[in-house]
Amino acid sequence: MADLQEIIAEPPGIGEVLDVAGLFTRAAPIEMEIGCGKGGFLLRRAREHPQRNYFAIEWASKYYTYAADRFRRWGLDNVRLMRTDARHLMTHQFPNAVLSVLHVYHPDPWPKKRHHKRRLFNAEFVDAAVGALIPGARWAVQTDHAEYAEIIQGLLLNHPQLEPMEFDDPEFGTTDERTETNFEVKYLRQGRHIYRLAVRKRR
Ligand SMILES: C[S@@+](CC[C@H](N)C(=O)[O-])C[C@H]1O[C@@H](n2cnc3c(N)ncnc32)[C@H](O)[C@@H]1O
Repeated sequence: MADLQEIIAEPPGIGEVLDVAGLFTRAAPIEMEIGCGKGGFLLRRAREHPQRNYFAIEWASKYYTYAADRFRRWGLDNVRLMRTDARHLMTHQFPNAVLSVLHVYHPDPWPKKRHHKRRLFNAEFVDAAVGALIPGARWAVQTDHAEYAEIIQGLLLNHPQLEPMEFDDPEFGTTDERTETNFEVKYLRQGRHIYRLAVRKRR
């Protein structure tokens, strides 16, 4: 069983930039998931690819605690979990060119107009996240919310450093033995449409 202290990563202090690579015991490509919820997707990815490092961010303490305990029980030494606001971390305290893959699945859509400012995706966040990707890195997003999907698409597809790529790709757990997220399973059972998009940072 892995030690909880090894899995949990503390947010950087005020004014500090997070040493993402330094969170792990060995150098390896880093996949990050923002809003991992109960952590099911990341857990399966990390088990399937022990040679890669996995970094999850979750804000809600209920989900964060659940995911942390799950990662500990599975004894994974290639996973780190941080409880923080991913938008703040990414826009103010994240280093450049460190991520090989960024996963964002079912970000909260905040459907009411007065709550739109709480959404994860805005131009500042997208710029910062593009900076965090290494050239050639993949960024995959999915949501069941049509209006939010359109906004996300506009932000990513109009970004000069991003280009579209196939969402379905066995390397990223998106075909055959598909690595589904908890919300994906729930929404598919309800018959909802899921909007998916994958982009690559230009080399
Ligand atoms: C709808 S759930 C999706 C969970 C998971 N990705 C899935 O597909 O099953 C959205 C998750 O993102 C988390 N979240 C929302 N905004 C966040 C933020 N700014 N920083 C970190 N986590 C956030 C929420 O707490 C929640 O667990």
